[in-house]
Amino acid sequence: MIDGKKTMLSGMQSTGMITLGNYLGALKNWVNLADEEDIKCFYGIMDLHSITVRQDPTELKKNARRLMLLYIAAGLDPEKNCLFFQSHVPAHPQLAWILNCFTYMGEMNRMTQFKDKSAKHADNINTGLFTYPVLMAADILLYQADLVPVGKDQMQHLEITRDIATRFNGIYGDVFTIPDAYIGKSGARVMSLQDPEKKMSKSDENPNASIFLLDDKDTIMRKFKRAVTDSEGMIAYRDEQPGVRNLIDIYNAVTGHTVEETLKEFEGQGYGTLKEAVGEAVATELAPLQARYAELEKDKEFVNRVMKENAEQASYYANKTLRKVMKKVGFIEMPR
Ligand code: TYM
Repeated sequence: MIDGKKTMLSGMQSTGMITLGNYLGALKNWVNLADEEDIKCFYGIMDLHSITVRQDPTELKKNARRLMLLYIAAGLDPEKNCLFFQSHVPAHPQLAWILNCFTYMGEMNRMTQFKDKSAKHADNINTGLFTYPVLMAADILLYQADLVPVGKDQMQHLEITRDIATRFNGIYGDVFTIPDAYIGKSGARVMSLQDPEKKMSKSDENPNASIFLLDDKDTIMRKFKRAVTDSEGMIAYRDEQPGVRNLIDIYNAVTGHTVEETLKEFEGQGYGTLKEAVGEAVATELAPLQARYAELEKDKEFVNRVMKENAEQASYYANKTLRKVMKKVGFIEMPR
C-alpha cells in the first residue's frame, strides 16, 4: 500500500527484443490493470538484472530505451503509471544488499532460473546470477507492492520474495507488504513456436521460435505458418498436442475467446486455417502498438522527460521504504 492505495509493481529485463510471451504474459495484463483507478502502478525496466548475462554496452542502452517506448506504446500512460529504469533508483541495489543478508544459499540454489541460466552460460556463472532473485525481491518490496503481475515462470521468484519479506517482518515488525502474484487467465505461459514444450523466450537461438513485438505482419504470418504442430490432423486442446494447444492459447489471449468458443470456430478445419487466423489476430493486436512506437521514436524530448520525472517519483517511494529498513536494522542516520 502507498498513500492508502493498492500498489502494483512489475518489470522486464532490458535484453534483446521482447516477445509475444512477454506481452501476453505480462505487458497486456499491466495495461488492463492500469485502467483501474485505485491502483498505484510501478513498472521497471530492469536493466540491473540484465547484466547477469554479459551485455554489449551500446546494445544494452538501445534495448533499455526501446523497452521504455514499448511500455508506453502498449498503452501504459506515463502520467498515470510510474515507468522507470531500475539503474536510476540506487535504492534497489542498496536494499538488495541488505536482503542478501536475510536470504540463504540453499534458497537460491533451488531457483530453476539460476539452474537454467547457468547451464546456458556455463562460462559466466557469476554471483549476480545467483542472487538475482534477491534484487527482484528488493524491486517489489521497496514499493510495498500488493500485486505483482507476471507470467508463470516468475512464480518461484515471487514465492522467495514472500519468504524473505516474512522473515524480515518476523524480526523487525511490519516493514514490508507481503505481495501476491497476479497471473492472467490466458497467456501466462506462451510456448515456443518451434518447440512447444519450451517457453517462448527472447534469447532463443531460432528466430522462428518467437514472435517479437516489432515483427511486421509478413514475418508474423510466416512464423505462425511454420509453427510446429503434430500429425494428429485434428484441432483439439489437450496435452498430447502441445503445439496446437499453444496456438489456441495465443488466439484466446488475444481475442478473449474461451477454449470452447475457439474449438467450435475451427471445428473440422485444418491446422493451416488455425495458423492463419492466429497470425491475423496477433498482427491486428500488435499493429496499433507498432504505429505508436514509430511515433514515440521521433519524440526524444517527451521520452527524456518521462524518464526523469518517473525516476524521481520512483526514488521518492523507494527511499521511504529504504530509510525505514535501515533504521530498523540499526544503521546510524546521516545527520541532516
Ligand atoms: P523477463 O524479463 O524474463 O520477462 C518479463 C515478463 O514476461 C513474462 N514472460 C512470459 N509470460 C508468458 N509466456 C512466456 N513465454 C513468457 N516469457 C516471459 C515473465 O513472466 C515476466 O512477467 N525477473 C523478471 C524481471 C523482473 C521483475 C522484477 C518482474 C525483475 N524485477 C520485479 C516482476 C517484479 C524477468 O526476468 O522477467
